[in-house]
Amino acid sequence: MFENIFRISDKILSIFLFDTTSLGCADRVVLSAAFLTVFTLILITSSYLVVDLIVSRKVVGQLNKKSVFVTGCDSGFGNLLAKSLVKRGVKVFAGCLTDGGAAQLESETSSLLQTLVVDITQRESVKKALDFISRRIGSEGLWGLVNNAGVMSTFSPTECTSYEDFERVLHVNITGTLSVTHAFLPLLRKSRGRIVTVCSATSTVAYPGITNYATSKAALKMFCSCLRREFFNSGLKVITIEPGGFRTNLTEQESLANMVHKGFKTATKEQQDFYGGNIAEYIMGGVRLASQYVNNRPQSVADAMAHALLAKYPKICYPVGYDAYLFFGFMRMIPEWVGDYILGWPAPYGRQCEDFKQHND
Ligand SMILES: NC(=O)c1ccc[n+]([C@@H]2O[C@H](COP(=O)([O-])OP(=O)(O)OC[C@H]3O[C@@H](n4cnc5c(N)ncnc54)[C@H](OP(=O)(O)O)[C@@H]3O)[C@@H](O)[C@H]2O)c1
Repeated sequence: MFENIFRISDKILSIFLFDTTSLGCADRVVLSAAFLTVFTLILITSSYLVVDLIVSRKVVGQLNKKSVFVTGCDSGFGNLLAKSLVKRGVKVFAGCLTDGGAAQLESETSSLLQTLVVDITQRESVKKALDFISRRIGSEGLWGLVNNAGVMSTFSPTECTSYEDFERVLHVNITGTLSVTHAFLPLLRKSRGRIVTVCSATSTVAYPGITNYATSKAALKMFCSCLRREFFNSGLKVITIEPGGFRTNLTEQESLANMVHKGFKTATKEQQDFYGGNIAEYIMGGVRLASQYVNNRPQSVADAMAHALLAKYPKICYPVGYDAYLFFGFMRMIPEWVGDYILGWPAPYGRQCEDFKQHND
């Protein structure tokens, strides 16, 4: 048998590389083993990719009987998703935070889309949304809930972020999402459909300066993972979307600049001394650099959300964007202490820098 394997690998090697018959027996064994390993890996990977491509194209049936509730549709990913779903014949309940956002979206789509004004932080508003949707869906129940609404409020050191800012971000991103999911679970269980939640690439990589946002998204990711396992055998699927940076209202350079300066405006004298004026400029440098590379195709996030909702075999988690794969993927793989050197801020620039250094010696 080994003779046969040798002969085959010799033949293939002589076609693509060089004639191996002149080599010694040991060299031929090593070369054949290396060749077979590489060949097997390529075969397994390409077979996986082909099967994945075929399987991922399969879509659930009867799209015209499916209805989906999306939160945060005034702008960004939610708005794009609502329009994409309507184009595919899915009935959409688009939750908007403002009347203006709802009216604008309604004027741009067909009667398959109905808007409702929902503030996910208000239990009464969520209850009203549940009543509104329950009265309008058939016996199939609600196929999908997309927890998309989310906010980011500051880009500054944790101690310069006010308690109110922390509370607001956690209130919208965590308790708001939790309250919507809780309320809609009975309808979703009935259809054995999907709960799709927009987390972030920062759910799993500690990014300094956005502690409140990253904390909320990490908690959201864990919330979804627990829920996914609780419903593992029920048919209801719980899926997360984890985008890197995409150009939307949330990442507009002007709003990011406001987020950076907001924290420093309210910083105490002692905090200003500790961080020094340079830290704001340091963060702004990072923001400017990042916004040059921020992804201009938010539609690809909406496409991932649509896939999570409508594919027959959806994935558990959808990282979206090259930074989500390359930078954040790399950061997840390396040891935490190496990551600290990459993402850790420089030593404080302020007057206390020397005290700080002495203290750490
Ligand atoms: N853009 C990115 O790079 C990025 C990356 C990772 C994750 N995400 C996440 O993706 C999701 C969508 O963000 P986006 O980038 O599309 O930004 P966006 O355009 O600001 O969309 C967020 C939406 O949520 C709405 N919203 C805010 N507070 C709400 C509340 N209390 N109740 C209901 N709706 C509320 C906003 O309404 P208004 O417009 O009226 O304020 C807006 O329509 C968010 O969860 C965000 O954290 C974004």
